[in-house]
Amino acid sequence: MDRYEPLRGRTIALVGLMGVGKSSVGRRLAAALNLPFRDADTEVETAAGRSIPEIFAALGEAAFRDGERRVIARLLEGPPHVLATGGGAFMNPETRALIKAQAISVWLKADLEVLARRVGRKDTRPLLTGKDPMEVLKAQAEVRYPIYAEADITVETGDAAHQVTVNHVLKAIAEHIGAPVE
Ligand code: S3P
Repeated sequence: MDRYEPLRGRTIALVGLMGVGKSSVGRRLAAALNLPFRDADTEVETAAGRSIPEIFAALGEAAFRDGERRVIARLLEGPPHVLATGGGAFMNPETRALIKAQAISVWLKADLEVLARRVGRKDTRPLLTGKDPMEVLKAQAEVRYPIYAEADITVETGDAAHQVTVNHVLKAIAEHIGAPVE
């Protein structure tokens, strides 16, 4: 039996707020599971031929959300992979329904202080431009946490190294599907 057979062809979709490590953890998780890795933000940028800040500036957030929804639907139709979604993607009811149908969803969760510190180091997130990251994250957490909680699995990452989180996620997936995945 293929040792990944218990995943039954399902994609692993990572959800959670900006800065929680969806992309970094996702890339390592994919390597551990010997699955391809896809980053929804990168795929949206490739499809649009512009960066996310450019998409927001030129076309607005609604256009970004529309592109994000279409890109994730396309990815989920394809072969199984590890998918890092953008922080807002799981909030879209259509995307959420697709992820629930096609993937095992994992909410990566960390204290807002940790996230605020991490996102403060980068300038690539239009929702944070000119704003206090902690305020934005707090407001997002209030709206998004009840929805993220619908994910199949929740993993508290703390401020741990990404590889530590990968090991927690692998264990949590194994428990969820009732079979070892590594
Ligand atoms: C967003 C998160 C970003 C990106 C966009 C909007 C959000 O992705 O999709 O800037 O609404 O939380 P990351 O979560 O990968 O930073």
